[in-house]
Amino acid sequence: MAEIIKLGADRSMDFDRETVEQAYDRWAPIYDLVFGGVFSKGRQAAIQATNKIGGRVLEVGVGTGISLPLYSQNVRIFGTDISEAMLEKAKKRVAEQGLKNVEGLAVMDAEKLEFSDNSFDVVMAQYVLSAVPNPEAALDEFARVVRPGGELIILTRVSADAGVRRFIEQKLQPVVRPLGFRTAEFAWSRYTKWLAGARGMELAERRLIPPLGHFSLVRFRKADVAKAA
Ligand SMILES: C[S@@+](CC[C@H](N)C(=O)[O-])C[C@H]1O[C@@H](n2cnc3c(N)ncnc32)[C@H](O)[C@@H]1O
Repeated sequence: MAEIIKLGADRSMDFDRETVEQAYDRWAPIYDLVFGGVFSKGRQAAIQATNKIGGRVLEVGVGTGISLPLYSQNVRIFGTDISEAMLEKAKKRVAEQGLKNVEGLAVMDAEKLEFSDNSFDVVMAQYVLSAVPNPEAALDEFARVVRPGGELIILTRVSADAGVRRFIEQKLQPVVRPLGFRTAEFAWSRYTKWLAGARGMELAERRLIPPLGHFSLVRFRKADVAKAA
């Protein structure tokens, strides 16, 4: 039975792995058509930041693999996702486009990554954290598997703290939940609170992503112990 994380007294705010998995299995056939263009500016920014670091990259929530052709050839990518149907699309894309820099694709929960500590130069997740039941647990896992000196490159929703946008985001939350999204509960303070409790992680950048700035590109860096010594 999937664990249910309670985000508030209102049950419509509950979000569990089963709901998300089923939602993205349903999205798979039309995902690229609906979200290909809308999210493309953010993806380009995230991939550019990743290519700059290079090396071995873990893309969590790789989905249909829409971003895989954008990585530079000297980057090796391992992609994971909770939805088998989304991953099937990614596998087809890799085969059809002959993407030789894709090391592997596997069904895996972002909250329980099956990799050793310090395995990757970059862990990146695009439009994923707000779909994960316990984003802090996922961030802990990202921080565990990235190497010292490496980065978490996160393209993520940042909800409004107050005002009309907050009101709309809260009203929308129960409507979009069955679709595998969350609009509320992702104020910037949630990310900084995680950072304050995450040993050895620091904020390298936060950049608003156009058109509306509801999403940000966030880079967290893991302290390089060797350099600090
Ligand atoms: C909005 S889509 C983003 C897909 C892709 N990154 C993109 O840029 O279009 C969210 C993805 O996260 C995946 N996902 C949701 N919860 C997950 C979890 N706990 N572990 C791994 N992947 C998850 C979904 O299956 C879906 O493919």
